[in-house]
Parts: sequence; C-alpha cells; structure tokens
Amino acid sequence: MNDRLSRYPRSAGLDEADVQLRLMQAGDEPGVAAFAAELPTHDLLFLRRDITVPKVLSAWIEELQAGTITSLVAMQGDEVVGCTAVVVDPRSWSPHVGELRVLLARSMREKGLGRVLIQESFALALSLGLEKLTAQMTADQQAAIAVFEGMGFRAEALLRDHVRDRQNVKHDIVILSHDVADFQAKLEQYGLNDAF
Ligand SMILES: CC(C)(COP(=O)(O)OP(=O)(O)OC[C@H]1O[C@@H](n2cnc3c(N)ncnc32)[C@H](O)[C@@H]1OP(=O)(O)O)[C@@H](O)C(=O)NCCC(=O)NCCS
Repeated sequence: MNDRLSRYPRSAGLDEADVQLRLMQAGDEPGVAAFAAELPTHDLLFLRRDITVPKVLSAWIEELQAGTITSLVAMQGDEVVGCTAVVVDPRSWSPHVGELRVLLARSMREKGLGRVLIQESFALALSLGLEKLTAQMTADQQAAIAVFEGMGFRAEALLRDHVRDRQNVKHDIVILSHDVADFQAKLEQYGLNDAF
C-alpha cells in the first residue's frame, strides 16, 4: 500500500472539534448521501456529477476501488462532515494531472478543516506521483477561491455559463491550479520532503 494511505485513520488535529480523517470505502454511501443532502445545491455545482444521486455515489466507490479516485472522509462521531477526492485518469493524455475536490458541511467551515483536507490531499497527490493539481468552483464562491489561493493555487481558466443548476440558472466555473512537482522539488531542496 502507498505509505501515505497507511497514515489513516488519523485525527484532523482541530482545537474546536474532534474530527477523524479516514479513507472513503464501500459502505460509506449512506453517510455521504446524508451529508450531501444537507448541502445547498449551489455548493455542489463545482462537482462534475450530482452526488445526491445514488448511482453517482456507487460509481464513486467503484472508482475508489479502481484507483482512479482517492478520497478521504472527515468524520465527527458517525457523521460525515466533509470529503475530498483526488481524481486521475491514467488512460488520458493528462495522467500527471489530478483534480482536487473538497467539500465540507456548512457547520464545519472556517474552523481550519478545509485547510487540513487540502493539505492532506496535496500530500496524497505527491504520493501518487502527480505533477499538477487543478480545482474548480463556481466563480462566485469567493471564500473557496480565497482558501485555495491562500494555499498557492492560481486561477488558470474561466468557463462561462458552464454549469446549470436545478432552476436552470447557468454559472461560470473558475479553474485554479497548483504545480505540485515544483512544490515537491522545493521541499526536497530544503530537505523537508519527509516532514510534509
Ligand atoms: C472551500 C472550503 C473547503 C473551505 O473550508 P474551510 O474549513 O471553511 O476553510 P478553513 O477554515 O480551513 O480556511 C482556510 C484558509 O482560508 C481562509 N478563509 C476561510 N474562509 C474564508 C472566507 N470566507 N474568505 C476569505 N478567506 C477565508 C481562512 O482564514 C484560512 O486561512 P489561514 O489558514 O491563513 O487562516 C469550504 O468552504 C467548502 O466546503 N466550500 C464549498 C465547496 C467548495 O466550493 N469547494 C471548493 C471546490 S474544490
């Protein structure tokens, strides 16, 4: 097993809440469905598929088993309060690129959990040998954009009217990216790669 994956389960290390991080696995579908059902649709628009649909959740679990998605769930007791995905397509012309998705329960935001999950996903991406990470979100998610930019992601593209919500309203999508390979090279230069 990838060394990085064997680090889980582990505590998210938050002061304000006891949150455990572990790899998502088969059987998590009901917990993730309950978590997704509590979120406003607008928070789901950056995902390529609607995760409130059971078939989409089943497909997600299949991709975990195939190794094309690596996902963490953040658990508070038995409740899913957040999840991540690093999505790769090894058969595409971009096998070196991963797409990062992070989603938290509204009650868990602005407590530092988003930063922890992005850092964990970043480390997972390095362990998977990825060179570049992208993250996409609706252009009006100013908070999410600020969080990712604060962690070194930079805006790379704007896709106009790219997603359509349940009321048929279209929204722009912004794509941010991070040069993970360059980041790892810098860590190695400073002898910090084991620390991360
Ligand atoms: C984006 C998201 C994961 C951020 O999680 P979070 O737990 O609220 O973020 P954190 O509390 O860890 O904050 C991380 C940093 O961003 C800053 N930040 C948080 N909310 C902010 C806001 N509203 N405006 C500006 N900066 C903000 C924090 O100050 C922190 O910076 P610091 O560590 O230098 O203090 C969460 O808001 C979310 O699930 N959004 C909906 C889904 C989404 O849009 N995901 C992004 C697409 S992948």
